[in-house]
Formats: sequence, C-alpha cells, structure tokens
Amino acid sequence: MSFALAHAATAPARSTQVFIVAAGATAVPAAAAGDLSSEAQAYVAAALADDQPLVHLNHFSHHHYFVVLADKPAPAQVAEALRRSGHALLGLLKKEKTAAVFVHNLSQSPDAALRLAEGLALSAYRFGGYKTDEKSRTAPALTTVTLVGDAATPAGLAALDGLLQGVVLARDLVNAPLNKLNAVQFAERMAAAGDEAGYTTDVLDLAKIEALRMGGLLAVNLGSPEPPTFSILEWKPAGAQNAKPYVLVGKGVVFDTGGLSLKPTPNSMDMMKCDMAGGAAVAGVLYALAKNQVPLHVIGLVPATDNRPGGLAYVPGDVLTMHSGLTVEVKNTDAEGRLLLADALSFARKYDPALVIDLATLTGAAVRALGTEASAVLGTADAATMQQLAAAGHAVHERLVEFPLWDEYADHIKSDIADLSNLGKGEAGHISAAKFLERFAGGYPWVHLDIAGPAYLTAAESYRGKGGTGTGVRLLYEFLTKQLTEQPALTQESC
Ligand code: BES
Ligand code: ZN
Ligand code: ZN
Repeated sequence: MSFALAHAATAPARSTQVFIVAAGATAVPAAAAGDLSSEAQAYVAAALADDQPLVHLNHFSHHHYFVVLADKPAPAQVAEALRRSGHALLGLLKKEKTAAVFVHNLSQSPDAALRLAEGLALSAYRFGGYKTDEKSRTAPALTTVTLVGDAATPAGLAALDGLLQGVVLARDLVNAPLNKLNAVQFAERMAAAGDEAGYTTDVLDLAKIEALRMGGLLAVNLGSPEPPTFSILEWKPAGAQNAKPYVLVGKGVVFDTGGLSLKPTPNSMDMMKCDMAGGAAVAGVLYALAKNQVPLHVIGLVPATDNRPGGLAYVPGDVLTMHSGLTVEVKNTDAEGRLLLADALSFARKYDPALVIDLATLTGAAVRALGTEASAVLGTADAATMQQLAAAGHAVHERLVEFPLWDEYADHIKSDIADLSNLGKGEAGHISAAKFLERFAGGYPWVHLDIAGPAYLTAAESYRGKGGTGTGVRLLYEFLTKQLTEQPALTQESC
C-alpha cells in the first residue's frame, strides 16, 4: 500500500484532521470545534446546511476536512459513499501535498472511518510500473493515515490492512504484462506472497500436469514456448473452524491472444494481460486470510498458461481428453478459460470441499450483459449460499447478478463427436460457458463468478482506479469471514 494505516489515542494540535459527521449534521460537532474560530465554525455550518458532502477548511499550516455520511437507507450504500468520499478526499490531500492525516469518527456508524480509510487506500494504489526517471519513482506525499480513538480498534485496523494488502497483490499481478509474468513467474510470485503471509504453495510443473492428464490446460499451453503451471495454495490454520475446506479456483491465463482463433488487437486483445485476474484474486484472498490469521481452511487452485498461436498450437476441431475423462471438441481456441478451469474443477474433488468457488475473466458475454459494474454468478450451491454471496457483494460493493443454469442451455455446447463442445451460441455465452464448467464441477456445491467486466478498467472509476481492480478479493474475504461462527474484528455491515 502506498501509505501506512495507524491508530492513535489522540491527534496532535495543528495537524490535518478529518471529521466524519452524521448525515444531516448542520453544526460543527463539539468534538471538532476545539481550535476553530467562530467564523470557521459558521463557514462549516453553512456548507453543511448546503448539503455539501465534503467540506474543506484551509488553515495554511494544516487543514480540517468534514466528511458527511450519506443519507441512504441501506448500510452498504452508506459504506460505499464513504469509500467514494475517501477517493474525493485523497484528491484534496494530494493537491495540498499532505503527508499525514488524523481521522475522527463523530458519526453513529462504528465502521465509518474504516470505510473512509478503505476508499483512501484503494485510491492511493499505484502500480510500481517500469518507468526509469526519478520523478515517476518519488514517493507520493501522503505517508500516514491515523484513525483516532474509537474511530477504529487496532485489531480492526490491522485486519483492514491485511485485506488491502491482498487487494494490492491481486492488482499488482494483473497489471504485470506477459513478458514480466509468464505462468512460471506467476506461480513464483504467488509462492513468494505465501511465504510472506503464511500460506503454503505447491507448484505442479509440466511433468506433473501431464501425469495428471490435464488435457485442457495442456492443450491451451501447446502454442506457448513456456510451460504451464498448476499452483496449489493452502491456508490451514491450527484452529480452523471448518472440517471440509473451501476451494477457490482462479483462471490463470497470463495472456490470451485467442490462439489460432486470434483476437483482433484493438479493444479486444490489448488488455488480455488481465486474463489471470481470477487467479490473482485467489492469491489475494489467501494472502489476506493468512495475514489476518482467519481460522478457516481454504485451498486455492490456479491453472496457468498463456494462450497463443504457434507451431504446435491446438486447432479448431481438436478433441481433448480432460482430467475428468470427458472429451471436448475444440470449436474455438479463444474459449480456452473453460478448458483449464474444467481440469482444476475436477481436480478439486479430491479435497472433498464444503464449497468450490471459481473466479474467471471468462466471457465477453458477461461484459456485454453487465458492463464493468458487476460480475455474473451462476452455480449449483444452495440458495442460502447464493444469498450470502450476494450480500457480501453489496457489503463490499463488488456486486453480483445471478444467471440461470437451466437444462436447455446445455444444448448450446453439444458436440457431434465428443461429450462437449467448448463453444456456445452467439447469445448467452456466459451461461453456456458456466454450463460447460458445471459438467466438471460434480460432487460438491459450486459457484462460478465471471469477473470479465469488473476485473480490469481501461479508464479510472473512483477508488477502483485504472487497470487491475483486484475484484473478488474483498468479496470472497467478506463471504468467507461471514462463515465464521465467531466474527473477527473486520466486518463490513455496521455502517
Ligand atoms: N478472456 C476472454 C474473455 C474476456 C473478454 C475477458 C473481455 C475480459 C474481457 C475469453 O477467453 C474469451 O476469449 N472468451 C470468448 C469465448 C467465445 C470464443 C466463446 C468470448 O467471450 O468472446
Ligand atoms: Zn479467450
Ligand atoms: Zn481468456
């Protein structure tokens, strides 16, 4: 993260301070009035009466900011408005080249300061990148955000910090281009992150992948000069509350050219370094769980390769035998994600999971249906699980829209000569892709998240910024920690 999150009992005098105040506040609360002149107080009161959501007082040596809680019916909407206020506040702090701010929560919402800090931190993210000039490498001005008094508990703050580091990991991985992050480097980076956070990583190499007969992953890899990897990440703390593990599966296509069914470059292939965003999110979730010592047993599976044309590349018409034994007729080499996910999904069965959730930038159809605003969710898990996921989506504002897995959609992926075709019809492509995966996700409850829209933004949008968003990390951390019988310090619901 680009600044440190800290906690302090009080803020020093003449420091830059942020006061979060209740919705509809019309006067400066007593706790914030201390060193303000009556003119300054009148100025703030007038701005509050004018419904301004963010009020700035410039004292030249330091500043005061007032963030007003949104007047919205749902706690999740209030939380999201606070994240967005964090983004707006960062803009002002940058302008003033502020190094340190102290945040007070004078509202009735106990998590308000955490949500503001979340928005500040997610907005302050910068990809390290590869620029060589000094100016680009100098650190940003804002170095510390300190939450004061009961604005947060130190434990709650530490948990938010761990979660945000997971988001940063996912964003950094997505933003790295193919020539800095091939499948082997991707696996190495996930393993290094595990060493740091505390989860273990077992990277299966080409020989092991061949021995496991992962025909989908191997076929997609054929056009690549570099070998595939299959990473197994595991967080199994001593006091895990779940007897059966949660398994998270992430698509790890480090670059998707489409293969011989080549994508056109403009607006199609050019952002395809993001095609491992599902895998990156899995690593980000494991990282956050381990950092925060969350007492849940969770396994991450990330099959990885690039998808390219090349001398040996798989071709339309090829019939593959998958890890599960099912056969697949390849009708389009650009529908590659489902092939490697299928192998990972049938492999997941050996863990006897309580639930398997896969995340994948799987289809343009999901983007056309929902834009970058939401992910598509489909699955065989029970209604309660789907409901909990939807609630987590609202809580962290990574929203989900459910689509059906009706039998009729299975007709879209019929093949004349194999068990399945990897290509659906022109319509409902995100549904037929999920129907394909469903054939491999037997023996456990399963959820599929098509994150193709929100995973990567070509233009900045508030705290989600430009490039990799880390979508899925906050969502699944929220969902998983809500499964705990005893809740940890960080919750998203009490705003
Ligand atoms: N990686 C793409 C999907 C994608 C599209 C991700 C836009 C992020 C943004 C996937 O592998 C793909 O190419 N899907 C094809 C499938 C089709 C050939 C059945 C698609 O959706 O066009
Ligand atoms: Zn593709
Ligand atoms: Zn792809």
